[in-house]
Amino acid sequence: MYYEYRPKKPIQAPRGTTLTCKNWDTEAAMRMLMNNLDPEVALIPEELIVYGGSGRAARNWLAYTQIVDILKNLDENHTLCVQSGKPVYIAPTHPDAPRVIIANSNIVPHWATQEQFDKYDEMGLIMYGQMTAGSWIYIASQGIIQGTYESFAAAGKKNFGVDSLKGKFILTAGMGAMSGAQPLAGTMNEAVILDVEVYAERIKRKVKEGYCDKITADVHEAIQWVEEATKKGTPLSIGLVGNAGEVHPWLVKRGIIPDIVTDQTSAHALLDYVPIGDIKALDELRTKNPEEYSRRSLDTIAKHEEAILEMQKQGAVAFDYGNNLRGQAELAGVAVRNPDGNFKYPGFVPAYVRPLFCEGRGPFRWAALSGDPTDIAKLDKLVLELFPEDQTLVRWIKLAGEKIPHLGLPCRVCWLGYGERSTFALRMNDYVKKGIVKAPIVIGRDHLDCGSVASPHRETENMLDGSDAIADWPLLNFALNAVNGASWVSFHHGGGVGIGYSLHAGMVIVADGTDKRAKRLQRVTTVDPGIGIARHVDAGYEKAKEVAETKSVMTNKFRS
Ligand SMILES: NC(=O)c1ccc[n+]([C@@H]2O[C@H](COP(=O)([O-])OP(=O)(O)OC[C@H]3O[C@@H](n4cnc5c(N)ncnc54)[C@H](O)[C@@H]3O)[C@@H](O)[C@H]2O)c1
Repeated sequence: MYYEYRPKKPIQAPRGTTLTCKNWDTEAAMRMLMNNLDPEVALIPEELIVYGGSGRAARNWLAYTQIVDILKNLDENHTLCVQSGKPVYIAPTHPDAPRVIIANSNIVPHWATQEQFDKYDEMGLIMYGQMTAGSWIYIASQGIIQGTYESFAAAGKKNFGVDSLKGKFILTAGMGAMSGAQPLAGTMNEAVILDVEVYAERIKRKVKEGYCDKITADVHEAIQWVEEATKKGTPLSIGLVGNAGEVHPWLVKRGIIPDIVTDQTSAHALLDYVPIGDIKALDELRTKNPEEYSRRSLDTIAKHEEAILEMQKQGAVAFDYGNNLRGQAELAGVAVRNPDGNFKYPGFVPAYVRPLFCEGRGPFRWAALSGDPTDIAKLDKLVLELFPEDQTLVRWIKLAGEKIPHLGLPCRVCWLGYGERSTFALRMNDYVKKGIVKAPIVIGRDHLDCGSVASPHRETENMLDGSDAIADWPLLNFALNAVNGASWVSFHHGGGVGIGYSLHAGMVIVADGTDKRAKRLQRVTTVDPGIGIARHVDAGYEKAKEVAETKSVMTNKFRS
């Protein structure tokens, strides 16, 4: 890891209007890379690990140092190429080209296995970039919380016909980086949520940040709290120190069945998931005998998943929360599918999110390079002014302003659709130009979006036309954002659900307040969700066809 190059002080992105690089694109890329590694934001910053098990921001500390040096000196006629977290080429390009192009974890399909990836990783040739870690647009639990909040709300509406989860009990596990959004998303929906996490210090961090209400290591106490709060209808989030492979079967045995059960442990990678056993001994085993560690992970995953399936049988609403727990349990020999080949319980995308993808909606996000939270507050007001008719959005922005603490650079996430993204991006650029906000704004999104990902156990599970594993779409998305002038673009393998299971693209564009940038913003924020709508039109979704027609998405029609 070249620890001798690790900065002596904790990393924090510069704030304010003074450029330390030659332009705002490279300044933003550098600040967002640093922000990914800010101790307020990253899971294990000293190891370059940002979130999602072992998703890293750079290959090693030497590569990190080189990237920062290059960004400081990169002009508008060059583009930095990053191969799995390591700078490899400074290409002569032009001012409208992306300043950085990133490729992470990509392996030729026949070799795209976890074993092969681990071998390349060991040889120092590759890095796991997750989704936003290796593409420098991770913004801590605040990046996922709206998606989690909306998924819980949709689960309530669809399954119980209610707008609030008051008096309902959600059971989940994992309270790390993204999974750490679950407790707050639960209480924002007025539910009682019990989140089982192996590491006490991870729960303590979330309690300190205001994302979780209470911690206990006593399952009896946790259940007593759950029962009292559900009876009273009081929202409550509880972090229970324990292993889901033990706690969940214990609950089943005692007939304690939640209303909703899901999971966000790091099950996508067997070396990141934590098997039942002594943590210290397991940490040693992970390095000394990774094969045995993986075998134990599969054993625990089997127990964990069997308990979820039993809870579902006994009436709980179950949905997969994007960590490939079902896929791993299948490898462990658990019967996770119905006779028709579909999983016994759905992933959150087919269950709740796909209709949004058909409208080109996805997790749009922005960060204030000024470092001043009042810039975000001004942009919150702008969202409310621009889209007053969207009640879900209005409710979200108001709640977010009240309840979500800023971690690292101040930022916001909200799901915006086709047309809305470009309207808002252009107004943000205008705010920068007029000095209404103090510095340029970084605009990006998760790779989990309508047209940017192929992931048969998550975003593209159970597509109408059976095209779940077709990965041409994220490649088209990547290329479209590059040719239209995003500030940086990325193409990754294995994010979310693990190596072999997904391919996905990211884009970031900086609103620097110039008229030239307005043109690029308009282009990028149009085609990015545009290809998402085209993807769903092609798969046969009526909703996508309707949106394509009413919003004139397909400007040039062709014979069909
Ligand atoms: N649905 C989505 O939109 C979405 C978004 C981001 C990440 N993910 C996926 O969710 C998972 C979690 O992401 P993250 O960023 O929170 O990862 P993380 O590594 O930061 O956190 C996962 C947590 O799970 C805990 N854990 C592991 N095994 C456990 C067990 N057996 N019992 C209890 N706790 C256990 C770990 O200690 C860790 O704190 C990953 O698989 C990731 O790819 C899904």
